[in-house]
Amino acid sequence: MAETDIHPLQTSVANDTKVSSYNKHIGSKLGDPARRLLETYSKISSDEIEKHVYAIGAASDKISADGAPSEHLYGSDLRPEFFELGYKLFRDEDTLQSNFIVGDVFDPSPPLSALDGKIDIIYAASFLRLFGYEDQIRVCKRIVNLLKEKKDSVVLGRQVGNANAGERPRRNGPTKARRRHNEESFKKMWEEVGNLTESRWRMGHGAGMIRPCFD
Ligand SMILES: C[S@@+](CC[C@H](N)C(=O)[O-])C[C@H]1O[C@@H](n2cnc3c(N)ncnc32)[C@H](O)[C@@H]1O
Repeated sequence: MAETDIHPLQTSVANDTKVSSYNKHIGSKLGDPARRLLETYSKISSDEIEKHVYAIGAASDKISADGAPSEHLYGSDLRPEFFELGYKLFRDEDTLQSNFIVGDVFDPSPPLSALDGKIDIIYAASFLRLFGYEDQIRVCKRIVNLLKEKKDSVVLGRQVGNANAGERPRRNGPTKARRRHNEESFKKMWEEVGNLTESRWRMGHGAGMIRPCFD
């Protein structure tokens, strides 16, 4: 297998236990769509892929690979090293023109607030689930603020859920519990968000892979 240039960054992220998305075994679990993306978009040969890949958010790269003009895409995260990792993972630093914003979703000031009211579609995967209920409400309100005030604005995402909705203690990390939702509780939360933001939300959902979750 060929060497790649990701490893020093992987190590610094992996050594930080706050990074919940780090998974050093992900390479062997990649599904066909992810393999195809890396082979066709990132031009990584199939025998390099397992060594090359570790788990990080990759929405911009995937959406761009699907044909969206990348200069219209914005990505935001608390931690800038994920943007750098994304470039290295997909080898698209010279071509991807997405705008990456380092910021805390709870911070109401710029740079994130400069986008208030300007976004059509928000993709927030594995994100709400990091927080307890009150903070999930705060994040959802933030999401609503970012979206254009129009009928077709859309929020997409994927979350770990639980048939028995409720707070779950964090696996590693000191303090606050995280809220797990089922369909009903998620819908109810968005009703509350709608009331708080004077907006209305129609929810569609689909259950994906069901597997034990330990975080
Ligand atoms: C579990 S990862 C999900 C990443 C990506 N969406 C995906 O599906 O792979 C959660 C991300 O949220 C970021 N994050 C955590 N707290 C945040 C906050 N307060 N503001 C912005 N980003 C935050 C973390 O740095 C991490 O990259």
